[in-house]
Amino acid sequence: SRGPIVLGIESSCDETGAGIVRDGELLAHVVASSMDEHARFGGVVPEIAARAHLHSFNPVVRRALDQAGLRLSQIDAVAVTTGPGLSGALQVGLAGAKSLAYAVGVPLYGVHHLAGHVAADTLEHGPLPDPSVVLIVSGGHTSLLLVRDLVREPILHLGDTLDDAAGECFDKVARVLGLPYPGGPAVDRAAREGDPRAVAFPRPLTRPGDDPYAFSFSGLKTAAARWAEQHRLRGEEPPVADGAAALQEAVADVLTRKAVAACRAHAVGTLVVVGGVAANSRVRALAEERCAAAGVELRVPPLTLCTDNGAMIAAVGDLLVRSGAEPAPLEVSVDPSAPL
Ligand code: KG4
Ligand code: ZN
Repeated sequence: SRGPIVLGIESSCDETGAGIVRDGELLAHVVASSMDEHARFGGVVPEIAARAHLHSFNPVVRRALDQAGLRLSQIDAVAVTTGPGLSGALQVGLAGAKSLAYAVGVPLYGVHHLAGHVAADTLEHGPLPDPSVVLIVSGGHTSLLLVRDLVREPILHLGDTLDDAAGECFDKVARVLGLPYPGGPAVDRAAREGDPRAVAFPRPLTRPGDDPYAFSFSGLKTAAARWAEQHRLRGEEPPVADGAAALQEAVADVLTRKAVAACRAHAVGTLVVVGGVAANSRVRALAEERCAAAGVELRVPPLTLCTDNGAMIAAVGDLLVRSGAEPAPLEVSVDPSAPL
């Protein structure tokens, strides 16, 4: 017999996502983004994000149901991101998910946002090998995880960023270089015309004795800002393509070096890279090169599943329901700084 039909809702940042998953199979995947509304502020404005979720919630759920050819009454469970994320944004998604679950009379499951990012890959490549190393790199997170059974065993945090996330670094340096928001894709495009060896940007926390799995990107941001400033003090515009290429090389080098080292140290044969920065062409190329050299299988889900979405939350919900996990009580609340 077929398994339960799970509707997943995501609203932790600037994307309102609804996805539907059954037996690990993706049936619907709809995302509405408020990114354009934040562009002129140079970053996500929490109040604008929360209002946008309120506006998009019903249409996004409706479109997901249409995509799957289902009626709301056919949903067997609702899964929703409870944290970490922006408090107001999370609350809109949780309130909506509770209403749906209550109205249809089905269980509600709270999902950790990072577990969602990890599960995204299963929708494309099937169940995760146990164990896997997962590198989550986005505008909000940079984490290296050791994952066993996603819903039955705790996820082990190998390392995190001590300051900025990798995507945040791309976004902030892009601003300094005069590139548009969001900065990551703009840096990636500009870097195509640049020389990655033109500037020797630092490789933070890669010295012997440094935490092998911790990251730091704020110093890189400062180094890039200083480099641009030095050009401007001489009355010239910085060579943006070279700066972008060198920055991208430094970020990709640090991320992939540490991720592959984690696979080696834990004798893990699979590296999964998820999050918006997994879209970066140099991160992908270097990850492929270094995984191949280390005999590690590299899994990168398609970009639409890499960035925030509801399908990845539905994927975790699907695993939770099928593992017999306890649903959340209806009074469950958001946890904006949820630990893993
Ligand atoms: O996962 P995501 O959509 O949202 C969260 O932050 O959770 O990630 C967005 C981040 C932004 O910082 C964006 O600049 C970055 O991913 N990004 C990229 C690229 N595409 C998106 N960074 C570098 N290169 C890219 N091609
Ligand atoms: Zn995310």
